[in-house]
Amino acid sequence: MSYVAAIDQGTTSSRCIVFDASGSIVSVAQREHRQIFPRPGWVEHDAREIWEAVRQVVSEAVGSLEIAAVGITNQRETTLVWDRATGEPVANAIVWQDTRTDAQLRRFDQAFGEKAFRQRTGLPLAPYFAGSKLAWLLENGFHERAKRGELLFGTMDSWLIWKLTGRHLTDVTNASRTLLMNLETLDWDPEILAAVDIPRAMLPEIRSSAEVYGEVNEGPLAGVPLASALGDQQAALFGQTCFAPGEGKCTYGTGSFLLLNTGTSPVTSQHGLLTTVGYRIGDRPAVYALEGSIAVTGSLIQWLRDNIGLISSAAEVEELARTVPDNGGCYLVPAFSGLFAPHWRSDARGALVGLTGYVTKGHIARAALEATGWQTREVVDAMLADGDTPLAELRVDGGMTRNGLLMQFLADVLRVPVVRPTVAETTCLGAAYAAGLAVGFWPDTDALRANWQRDATWQPLLANEEVEREYGQWNKAVERTLNWV
Ligand code: G3P
Repeated sequence: MSYVAAIDQGTTSSRCIVFDASGSIVSVAQREHRQIFPRPGWVEHDAREIWEAVRQVVSEAVGSLEIAAVGITNQRETTLVWDRATGEPVANAIVWQDTRTDAQLRRFDQAFGEKAFRQRTGLPLAPYFAGSKLAWLLENGFHERAKRGELLFGTMDSWLIWKLTGRHLTDVTNASRTLLMNLETLDWDPEILAAVDIPRAMLPEIRSSAEVYGEVNEGPLAGVPLASALGDQQAALFGQTCFAPGEGKCTYGTGSFLLLNTGTSPVTSQHGLLTTVGYRIGDRPAVYALEGSIAVTGSLIQWLRDNIGLISSAAEVEELARTVPDNGGCYLVPAFSGLFAPHWRSDARGALVGLTGYVTKGHIARAALEATGWQTREVVDAMLADGDTPLAELRVDGGMTRNGLLMQFLADVLRVPVVRPTVAETTCLGAAYAAGLAVGFWPDTDALRANWQRDATWQPLLANEEVEREYGQWNKAVERTLNWV
C-alpha cells in the first residue's frame, strides 16, 4: 500500500500530512515557528527554523510509510534571499503581512505605473506581494551581490524545493504573487524586472504546479519524487476540487482567502479582487482565479489570546461569544496589515468602535468573529459587482470552520448555504492531489472529485433587514480605520 504526502509550510506552523488513495488522512504532524515583530508593521520568519520544523514534521508523519510522491504547499508572498554557494539565508524572511515597503511601491509606481502592473500581473501595488519585499532587501545591502549572481530569491515553496532537491524552482501559482510574473506568458516579465531593477539571475525558474521537479535527497522521503507546489490558497481550491469555472472556496486560516475558478483566461476585476493563477497541471493550460484576500481573521483570535489575554485558547472564543446574544453595538476591524481586498489600503490600522459601558468581553469576542463574516461579505459583494453569477453556496475549509457560531454567522451575512467537506485539511489535500496526479497515483481530476464529501451545511437564518443594518454599521467602522498612517 502506498500513500501521498504533503508538506504545508504555513504562516504560523509547518505540517506534514500523509493521505491514502481515498483522500483520507493517514498521519499528521505539526510544529509552530516564531513570529518575529522587529517594529510595528514588520513581520519576519527565520527560514532556518522553518526548515528544521519541516524536517521534523516530515520524519514524524512519514516514518516508515511507503510514499509515492510528495507535494508542497505554502504561505504565499513571504520573501527570502539566500546565498547560492552556502545555502544560508542572508536575512530573515519578510512575511506577507509585513507593511514596510511603501517607499519601494512608490518607486514601482513611478517606474512602471500601477495600471501597467495590474494589467501584466493581475495585482494592485500593495506591500502584501513579494516584489516590493525583494526590492526592500536589495536596497538594504544586497543589490551588488544579487547582480553578481551570488544570491537567490524565493518564496517558501522555492526555499523548500531548494533544500529538498537542490533545484531553484517555483510554481506558477506562487510566482503569480510576486508582481513580477506576466499572467499571459507565465514567465518573469523582462520589462517589469528592468523597470524595478531586480536581477533576473536571482529568480527561480517557473514550472507548472504538478510535475516531477526532482527527487528528495534526504530523510524518510529520500528518493521520493517531489511532484507539486502550490500556494496554500490555490492548493485549497484544488483540494476542494473546484475544477470548473464558477466553482470557488474560502479558506479560514491566519487570514482568509476566497478564490473563484474563472477558467483558462485571466479575468480582470474592477472591484478590488486579484487575478491570480489557480493551478497548472503539467503542460496543460493554466487555470486562473479571481481572489478576495483578507489579511486578518484567525490571527485576530490568536492576537486576543497572545497579546490581549482575553481567552486562553483559540477554541474559547466561541464559548465567550456565546455568553451574549449579539455584539452589544461594538465592531472590531482588524486592519493590522492595512486592509486587503477589496479596499487595498495600506494606510489603514485596526479599530474597535461603538464602545459603551455596556460592552463586555463576550461582545468583543463576538465582534472579533463577526469581523471574519463581514470581511467575507465584502469580497463576495466585490465578486458580484464584477458581474459573476451569485454563489449558489460557499465551500469553506481551514481551522476556523470548526467554529459553529462563525459558520452560522457566515451563512446569515452571505445569504447562501455554507458547506464544509469531511476533509477540512484541503490545503494539504490539494498539494497531495497535484503530486499524485503528476506521478499517476490518481488517474485524473474526476477521481479526485469522487473523493469530495459534504460534512456539514449551515443555512441562512437571520432576517435580511437585520443583516443589512449591521452591515451598514460595519462599513462605518471600516471608514474609521482609513488614513491612519
Ligand atoms: O497569502 C497569504 C496566505 O498564503 C497565508 O496563508 O494559511 O498560512 O495564513 P496561511
